[in-house]
Amino acid sequence: MKTKCLTIRDVAEAAGIIASGGLLGIPTETVYGLGANGLDEKAVHAIFEAKGRPQDNPLILHVPGEEWLERYCQDIPAVAYELTDRFWPGPLTMILRRKDNVPDAVTAGLDTVGMRCPDCTVTRAVIEKADVPVAAPSGNASGRPSPTTAAAMLEDMDGKIDAILDDGPCAVGVESTIIDLTVQPPRLLRPGGVTLEELEEVLGDVAVDDAVRRLMAPGEQPKAPGMKYRHYAPKAPVTVVKGDPDMTAGYIVARMGEKSGILCFDEFRGYFRGHPVETMGPVSDQAEQAREIFEALRAFDHLDVTDIWAQSPDDEGIGLAVTNRLNKAAGFHIIEL
Ligand code: TXA
Ligand code: MG
Repeated sequence: MKTKCLTIRDVAEAAGIIASGGLLGIPTETVYGLGANGLDEKAVHAIFEAKGRPQDNPLILHVPGEEWLERYCQDIPAVAYELTDRFWPGPLTMILRRKDNVPDAVTAGLDTVGMRCPDCTVTRAVIEKADVPVAAPSGNASGRPSPTTAAAMLEDMDGKIDAILDDGPCAVGVESTIIDLTVQPPRLLRPGGVTLEELEEVLGDVAVDDAVRRLMAPGEQPKAPGMKYRHYAPKAPVTVVKGDPDMTAGYIVARMGEKSGILCFDEFRGYFRGHPVETMGPVSDQAEQAREIFEALRAFDHLDVTDIWAQSPDDEGIGLAVTNRLNKAAGFHIIEL
């Protein structure tokens, strides 16, 4: 299959691909997604095939606004609308009880479904025009870092999807926050663009799923099935070093091998001369770290490195999402100084 590149002027063509059961790369403010008609079982199966995704890992549905929640969800708590008022369109996915019209292929047989309204005008226009919810996981091949540009998505998906809609680089850079509203207190299943602190302002008490901060033991089941898989990983093994940035830089310098790659803050690039270095923005700019993290992890696959050392960002605010992705890329191989 030849993958066509579409622009924001091609809404009608993009919507036609969705409506006719095809696969479309969609831009969102978080990462590019691999979209298909979420009511079309066959199209949904094609997503799993293109990604090489395990069948037990459910997909989220993308909708153009909170008016669509009732089409696919039931027993919607009032607090869901408080969240949509404040955070939609935006990087927040809500887990709600589903209606029967949502295919099992989307939810992997669960009685809940993830609902998200992306902050991306062209993608919402495509969904409106197709008039179906768009099921979309991140547009990477299963296990790889998520794509934050159309070019990164094509690296994994060229020839496997009908088209990709290019709307430039993603503004947030890490996937949406996932909050489960079917339990009390609501539970954070995946940290993302909407921070835990922001959620607490609306919800009060929020439980944080164990899978956010540590590796799941074999047989342990996190509530978001996707959180159990090794993920976001470059080919070379990653070690994360946590602590004051001056100390972590010094620690890495003392231990790096001849072919070690380094993921560091901008300020520390000079420490690692002679080594392949990817930077993730300044120490104090967490939003930039979120935008850079996946491209930096992807870049190492094009470099001749045997292992990768990474300085760890702070885990306040969106830093919780950035450290979660980095720690997962490292299989939670973390050294705390
Ligand atoms: O920002 C995002 O959310 C991106 C863009 C494309 O919208 N999408 C995305 O989808 O990250 P995906 O499939 O890569 O990650 C969705 C996560 C997975 O870990 C999955 O297990 C979890 O959401 N999930 C989906 N439905 C669920 C459900 N009903 N209950 C619990 N977890 C669910
Ligand atoms: Mg993903």
